[in-house]
Amino acid sequence: MSSKKLSVIDFYKKKEKGEKISWLTSYDFPTAQFAEAAGLDMILVGDSLGMCVYGYKGTVPVTMDQCIMHCEAVRRGAPNTFIVGDMPFLSYQASDEQAVLNAGRFLKEADMDAIKLEGGVRVASKIRAITEAGMNAVGHIGLTPQSSGQLGGHKAQGRTADAAQMVVEDAVAVQEAGAKMLLVEGVPPEVTRYIHTKLTIPVYSIGAGVYCDGQLLIVSDLIGQFQAFTPKFVKKYCNVSEMIIKAMSDYCAEVKNEQFPSDEHCYKMIDGEEEKFLKLMKED
Ligand code: KIV
Repeated sequence: MSSKKLSVIDFYKKKEKGEKISWLTSYDFPTAQFAEAAGLDMILVGDSLGMCVYGYKGTVPVTMDQCIMHCEAVRRGAPNTFIVGDMPFLSYQASDEQAVLNAGRFLKEADMDAIKLEGGVRVASKIRAITEAGMNAVGHIGLTPQSSGQLGGHKAQGRTADAAQMVVEDAVAVQEAGAKMLLVEGVPPEVTRYIHTKLTIPVYSIGAGVYCDGQLLIVSDLIGQFQAFTPKFVKKYCNVSEMIIKAMSDYCAEVKNEQFPSDEHCYKMIDGEEEKFLKLMKED
């Protein structure tokens, strides 16, 4: 378990030493407690909560208020972990001012250490404005789920030379705008490797290979909780869905055949009180 909360400077030191950084999403208090106990370096309260918690088809419907509420719960569960809040769709696209004010809510209301926003060249002015306002911005390029409509779905990016060049241009724009870290999603490892050699800020991958400073996974994928689909890059480390369904069906069966509750799950009357109680009931 990490005792001291890591800072952006610690992540730069890890990068320098070639120490890999572990990053996982969390959306609620108990999962955040588990993540901190497991020693994760960073947590992302991703807008993937739209799918993983609320059952939406994608991230677009997620609101600022939902994100802030989940960030608050995660902070309570992981007080000593570096936590990144994820800016939802239409919380930063409209103007630099909107981006600064909404980024600020993550810090003021939910005690986040950084905020993440999707896009490269096209959001550079927002990253610059957020950075100039004194906040840590994390860029997110490649497969950016909030614009999956424009990308033709949740599809890998940068698979042709021209497309890969555009991903690199986005990476450079994010760093030049002042972002402290960069997440690359859904691109071939060769592209991430090139970005990693070109940038000085820590570069993380989700579905973008091993040639970078750290990895991010969605907790609901990692523990086998999210059942709608499993992206190619996900490794399931356990299957809690099976465990939960079995526990619930065992409970259901035990209620029906009166195996539950047994004596060990019942409160006992204080010695001598049962006789008095029965007598009282007779007199009634
Ligand atoms: O919301 C999220 O969890 C994310 C990841 C998909 C990178 O942005």
